[in-house]
Amino acid sequence: MLSKNGAKYFFLIGTVFFGAIFLSLSYDTLVQIPKQTKEQNMTPLVVKGKLLFDRHNCMGCHTIMGEGAYYAPDLTKVYETKGEDWIRNMLIDPEMVYPGARKMVKYDMNEADQDAMVAFLKWISEVDTNNWPPKPVNQE
Ligand code: HEC
Repeated sequence: MLSKNGAKYFFLIGTVFFGAIFLSLSYDTLVQIPKQTKEQNMTPLVVKGKLLFDRHNCMGCHTIMGEGAYYAPDLTKVYETKGEDWIRNMLIDPEMVYPGARKMVKYDMNEADQDAMVAFLKWISEVDTNNWPPKPVNQE
């Protein structure tokens, strides 16, 4: 068994050692964020899209980057998988795209707001998310 002094040093050295690992990994993450998010592509239109995303509470039903609700499909890569026209149609009238399906709000969104929403979803789809969300195992 450790003596009282031994236990004290064990605690101190362990804390400093793992604290240093924790801090260096945190630093590494912070350095990589601008690269992974492609920060230079975050135009004012993208920012406007993000604000609209919040104002219309898209996250009340959808998930983005693992955050949000699971009522509706994950939107992190929707720009890549479904494309711009699909998104625009959803923002005008979801019935057009999914007749008689689960309900998404009919936003009747004007073109300027659609532009911003598409810009935001395009930017999000280009973020390097380390392959998040994972592909479902039963799909290609
Ligand atoms: C009340 C819940 C709700 C809200 C709020 C909502 N949606 Fe949806 N959304 C849905 C549902 C449900 C679907 C899937 C339609 C279906 O499967 O019947 C959907 C589908 C979509 C799709 C197509 C996804 C696909 O894979 O086909 C896009 C794009 C989309 N929503 C964008 C948005 C955006 C942007 C907002 C905010 C402006 C928003 N939604 C707000 C419920 C919602």
